[in-house]
Formats: sequence, structure tokens, C-alpha cells
Amino acid sequence: MTPKDQSQAMRTICANVPVIPVLVIDDPKIARPLAEALVEGGLPVLEVTLRTPAALPAIEAMDQVPGAIVGAGTLRCTRDVELATSAGAQFGVSPGCTTALVKASEYAALPLLPGASTASEVMSLSDCGYDMLKFFPAEASGGVKMMGNLAGPFPEISFCPTGGITKDNFAMYMACPTVRCVGGSWIATRDMIRDHDWCAVRQIAQETCEMAKANEPHSS
Ligand code: 3PG
Repeated sequence: MTPKDQSQAMRTICANVPVIPVLVIDDPKIARPLAEALVEGGLPVLEVTLRTPAALPAIEAMDQVPGAIVGAGTLRCTRDVELATSAGAQFGVSPGCTTALVKASEYAALPLLPGASTASEVMSLSDCGYDMLKFFPAEASGGVKMMGNLAGPFPEISFCPTGGITKDNFAMYMACPTVRCVGGSWIATRDMIRDHDWCAVRQIAQETCEMAKANEPHSS
């Protein structure tokens, strides 16, 4: 799967979601109720970060939830792509990108959302064929202002800003013309997950979807 096709697949996956919840899971047993709460709340595209031993079994469990589209985050090397694919991940997210990661994603036919935070990184990934990128770490890299500046030379690149996004700045990001969706852990924090607070997760997801609808929607 070429990088261009990977980006096209990512655009399709993200077409109707304002947010990809970024999830850190410590116990695979909670994967199913967590995914159900997020799907019910209107956010079916889920990123499970490969930062805990529970991540891979969690991806497998979440894949069984009707409507859920589960991806693996924090992909850093070829092995991560292989593990994510074996677990059933339908897409991958990386904080940056390497040649090895590009090759592994092509070989595994895994749609990858690679990370960039500078003009040169955007240009390198664009040269590879990617036209949908994670802008990471969004707030620390200049936030909405940087998004606006990158839109000048790169109007054809879509971004999924992630890192430091909350309910308070979410709408500002969504108002950027090149922002397709955002990623963030505020929808289901590690504390909420540990406390099994599925009501709160569902409610925050719903409120976020309502907030997105109230602001100008981005068409695909
Ligand atoms: C990450 O990879 O950890 C994401 O950027 C999530 O960032 P956040 O916790 O600031 O939402």
C-alpha cells in the first residue's frame, strides 16, 4: 500500500470523526467497555498506544466491538508495525517517521498517520506521498498559529494535530482549514479508564461531537 493510498485510507477512516481518542490501556479487560462507551459517544476511531503490555490484547478485544475502528499508536519501528498488524490494527499512528516505518507500513498494507512538526518534515513526508499527517506535539510546536502558518505553503496537506489538545482549544484547531480531525487523551484519560468511568467517557465523547457540529464542519 503506497503512502498516497495510506493517506487516502486515513482520510476515509477519519471522515466523520472530529477526534481520535488516544488511549493508554493498562488492563486489557477494560478494552471492550471502553471501546463501547466511545462508540456509543460517537467516536468510533480509536488509537491504542503501544506503551503498555496490555495494548496488543486491548486492540484485539476492541476490534470485536461493533462499529469500532481500532488503530495502534506510538509506532516507532518495523516490529511495532508487525505487532500492530498481527493484533488487528486497522491503522497506525506515529509521533514522527522513519524510512523503516514507511517501508514497514507499505509492506504490511497498514494505513499510517505519520507525525511531523516542522516544514521540512512535512516536505519529506509529502515527497514520500503522504498528504495526511499527525501534527505532533501540537501545542508545544506552536499550536493553532503553527497550523495556520503550515497551511500557507502546504494547503493540500491535511493534519490531525495531537498533543496538548483539550476541550478548551479543540474548537480552535477544528476551525483551521487544513485540520481534518484532532487526537487527544482528554476524552478518556488514564484516570477515567482506571476508574472504569464509562459514563464520563461517553458523555465527554458526546459533548465533543456536539461541539464539533456546532462549529464549522470539515467536509471530506
Ligand atoms: C500522545 O501521543 O500521547 C498524544 O499526543 C496525546 O497527547 P495528549 O495526552 O496531550 O492528548
